[in-house]
Amino acid sequence: MIEKINLPKGLRHIAIIMDGNGRWAKQRSKNRIFGHRHGSKAVRAVAEACSQMGLEVLTLFAFSTENWARPKKEVDTLMKLFKEFLKKESKTILKNNMRFRITGQMHRLPNDVQKFAKELIDESNSNTGMILNLAVSYGGRLEITEAVKNICRQVIDGKISPDRVTEDTIGNNLWTSDLPNPDLLIRTSGEFRISNFMIWQIAYSEIYITEVLWPDFDKKELARALESFSKRKRRFGKVDE
Ligand code: IPE
Ligand code: IPE
Ligand code: MG
Repeated sequence: MIEKINLPKGLRHIAIIMDGNGRWAKQRSKNRIFGHRHGSKAVRAVAEACSQMGLEVLTLFAFSTENWARPKKEVDTLMKLFKEFLKKESKTILKNNMRFRITGQMHRLPNDVQKFAKELIDESNSNTGMILNLAVSYGGRLEITEAVKNICRQVIDGKISPDRVTEDTIGNNLWTSDLPNPDLLIRTSGEFRISNFMIWQIAYSEIYITEVLWPDFDKKELARALESFSKRKRRFGKVDE
């Protein structure tokens, strides 16, 4: 068993596309819901390990704007699982001094999910440890569209001139404006795609894709991803010294 994982240099924000719950269940001849249940359970160990190694931000992609188009029964169960997660995991989150937040369309979530989420956001607001950022009803294109709308309003109000719109203007109008960009993007289940996740913010993220399905992703798998990250040379378009 791995006792302690060290935080690699230059790693402030890890973002994870938690994919593969359905296939995990299928391998066991169970329905997709069974996979989501186990996927939800896998979150705790990873969040605790990240928080204990001193990470600043962990973003977990839990539900995309496109996922609303899944069968109603699956969507309803996922919402139920979010609620259970918030109820069950609030203790772990508070105990670890984590700050909880949600990125995405909070208003589209069922009322009870919103209520538990808001409570946990408030309760953990003054904590000083890792930000646990759950991306729910999140879409990168939607986020950018909303930012553009905001900027248009500021232009109309005469607060900013179109010539003064910079990359920072856009970044500052995203839902994640106060967070550093992800340094490491992990996707489980071996899919080589982004699926509309943080498309602006990951411009220079290091990408790590593992065949492991999300319910099987644990501290050991996290350590593998970190080891890979620590060997990367991030050049940001420049040349090595
Ligand atoms: C990820 O697992 C969880 C969500 C997108 C909500 P999937 O449900 O996408 O599982 P696969 O990709 O079908 O195996
Ligand atoms: C991405 O997984 C969204 C989440 C993990 C929340 P999907 O399963 O929805 O993505 P695609 O359909 O494989 O691109
Ligand atoms: Mg999937």
